[in-house]
Amino acid sequence: MKQFQTSLVRWYEEKKRKLPWRETKDPYLIWLSEIILQQTRVDQGLNYYLKFKATFPSIQDLAKADEMEVLNLWKGLGYYSRARNLHATAKLIMDNYHGQFPSSYEEIIKLKGIGSYTAAAISSFAYGEAKAVLDGNVFRVLSRIFNLNTPIDSALGKKEFQELANELLDIENPAQHNQAIMEFGAIQCVPLNPKCHQCPLDFMCEAKAKNSVKQLPVKMGKTKITNKYFVFQIFKNEGKVLLERRTNSGIWKNMFQFPLIEFKDANEKRAFIKNYKYEYVSSEVKHVLSHQHLYCHFIFIEGFKKSNFTQQFWVSKEEISNYPVPRVIEKYIEENSELIFNHH
Ligand code: ADE
Ligand code: SF4
Repeated sequence: MKQFQTSLVRWYEEKKRKLPWRETKDPYLIWLSEIILQQTRVDQGLNYYLKFKATFPSIQDLAKADEMEVLNLWKGLGYYSRARNLHATAKLIMDNYHGQFPSSYEEIIKLKGIGSYTAAAISSFAYGEAKAVLDGNVFRVLSRIFNLNTPIDSALGKKEFQELANELLDIENPAQHNQAIMEFGAIQCVPLNPKCHQCPLDFMCEAKAKNSVKQLPVKMGKTKITNKYFVFQIFKNEGKVLLERRTNSGIWKNMFQFPLIEFKDANEKRAFIKNYKYEYVSSEVKHVLSHQHLYCHFIFIEGFKKSNFTQQFWVSKEEISNYPVPRVIEKYIEENSELIFNHH
C-alpha cells in the first residue's frame, strides 16, 4: 500500500497537468470546477471555469446573480441542471450558512447537486479531510491494478471499490493522493490504449500480469435510455423567429426553445410531419444525452401570424443568443443560422 501511494505520487509530481483549480483551497472554486467537470472534458471545462471565476469570484457574487445570467454563462456545456443547482446552492449557502461553505464531508454532501464523489473531492482538496474520491477514473485504475470484475455500475461494485479506495488513501495527504489517482486515470491508465509499456504501477498491476486490461472495468450497462421524439417549429416572420419559455419542470426547466411538439414514437411523428403544412423540414437530428436519446426534426413555417401565448415572443438572430436554449437547439442554430434568419 505504501508502495502504491509512493509510486503514484512520484508519478503525479512529474507528469501532472497544470490546472488552475489545483492552485486554490477555496471550497467555492473547487466546487465550481468539480461541477463543471462532472460531464465535461478538462480542455473544454477550463474556459468555463475561468469565465465563471472572473464573473463570479465569490459565492456571494454567484448568489446575487440572476438565474438567466448563470444559465447564459453555462451556454455550450449542456446538462443545465448543474448550473441551476450551483446557483440555488450558492443562494442557500448565503441564507443558511452565513455565506460560509460547509467544511466537512458530512455537511457538504447534504447540498443539492453534490454526491459522494464531489463531497470527497471538495472536503479533501479544500480542507484536507481523509475522504477517498471514487470517479470513473478511479474505478478504472482500481479495477485494473487489482483485476476486479465486479460491475462498476452495480451497488456491490460501488461498495467494493469505495472500500478499496478508502484503504489505499494516503491519510497524511488525501488531497494530493486523490488528485494523483484521478490524474493517473485521466492521462496514464486511460480507457483505450492505456500506457502499460511505460507505467509506474506495472509492478503491481494484476490486469497487466493476467492480460485482462482490455476487459476492465466491467459494466452491466443497464442504464435505461429513454427515446424522445421531437418536432421543433421554427415560425419565421421578417427575419425573426418565435421563441418560447419552458415552464414545466425537467432538464430544460426555465430555458427557451422553438415551440415544441412531442410524440410518443417515431411513427406518430412521421404521420404528423406528412400532414403538416411547412416550407421546409430538416433531416433528423439525433442528440445523445446520458439517459435520453432525442430524435428531432426542425420544421420551418413562414409568415406566421402573431402568437397569442404570453410565454412566446419574437427574436432576431442577434437577440436569440441572449437566451439559454437546450444544447440540441443551440447546435442547430449554429449550423443553420442562415436558413433560420434569412427573409425575403
Ligand atoms: N476531473 C474532475 N475533477 C478533476 C480535477 N480535480 N482535476 C482534473 N480533472 C478532474
Ligand atoms: Fe493501467 Fe496498464 Fe499501468 Fe496497469 S499497467 S495500471 S492497466 S496503465
